[in-house]
Amino acid sequence: MARMSEPTPAEKPVRPRVLSGIQPTSDSFHFGNYLGALRQWVELQETHEPFFFIANMHALTLEQEPKKLRERTFVAAAQLMAMGIDPQRSAIFVQSHMPEHAELAWVLQCLTGFGEARRMTQFKDKSAKAGEGSSSVGLFTYPILQAADILLYRPAYVPVGEDQRQHLELTRDLAQRFNHRYKRAFRLPEPYILKETAKILDLQNPAIKMSKSNSSPGGIVEMLDDPKVSAKKVRSAVTDSGSEIRFDPETKPGISNLLTIYSALSGRSIEDLVTSYEGQGYGALKGDLADVVVDFVTPFRNRTLELLDDRAELERVLRAGAETAGAVARATLADVYDRVGFVGR
Ligand code: TYM
Repeated sequence: MARMSEPTPAEKPVRPRVLSGIQPTSDSFHFGNYLGALRQWVELQETHEPFFFIANMHALTLEQEPKKLRERTFVAAAQLMAMGIDPQRSAIFVQSHMPEHAELAWVLQCLTGFGEARRMTQFKDKSAKAGEGSSSVGLFTYPILQAADILLYRPAYVPVGEDQRQHLELTRDLAQRFNHRYKRAFRLPEPYILKETAKILDLQNPAIKMSKSNSSPGGIVEMLDDPKVSAKKVRSAVTDSGSEIRFDPETKPGISNLLTIYSALSGRSIEDLVTSYEGQGYGALKGDLADVVVDFVTPFRNRTLELLDDRAELERVLRAGAETAGAVARATLADVYDRVGFVGR
């Protein structure tokens, strides 16, 4: 029997790796992105070997205006740095700078069943809008490109929000299938999903998650928005019937969502918040949370704008990130090509 492949030196991490990505599909990240995923990126870079990238190839699965896509890629990089991703410590790179992602995706596509791809709920949701017939094939194979993004780097953890769980499951299935068929030891990545903030809800409609594609303007708090506008959105958030401040996502999804955001931003526990607002109405909580939000987004926004002023530096960071990531990606892909029987060049 063939031996399972050992990772090459470039693939073998000193510290366990983390990897994650975010699409540059809007002018600003929102609180769902930040609390659901990005905050964990910042934290994990302290203890892991981090790879973070801007998923501009995934962005192309829905129509994008080229000028905007380019600009938003820089805005995304600046935001990551402004929130604390340190380019000295983390590889920050752009997906399209790395041809290996698409190359591994092809191999994985050839291992994915049609029915398996069709079961992905994100495809069902996104294609329902335009109709399946006019959705792109790229949208259909989106999760397989995501699996390639991940498996190229052998990460231990992938910090994401709850909505990415199914894609992570597919990634693990494909890794297992590849390992079985070609005797390679792809590491099975674990989703890193924090229960408390896994799904931040829309402020106007707490029945849905906060999202750039489905939320109304009042339902989504954008990190780069004018802080006064964000404060107003928090103060006008829809709350539940009754007036008691209690954490109960089932019967009080609106107020529970605000408590979640408040707790995550302030570092205070939910119990502590509930106790300190006892006997007060929703208005008091919303007013205080609006202040917390303003204090949080104001320096973040200023720092992002500052970083955006120096494009040459952003380009340098992204080039350096691609360089670090490239060494790992090339080694993985070379081994994969060898295993599937491709002739070397
Ligand atoms: P994207 O760009 O939609 O979102 C980036 C991250 O934000 C999380 N998120 C949320 N978390 C909690 N509550 C919410 N309301 C909320 N909205 C968004 C998402 O779960 C995600 O972690 N497919 C990915 C990008 C991607 C990727 C990857 C991620 C491409 N390749 C490889 C990890 C690994 C996406 O569309 O994320």
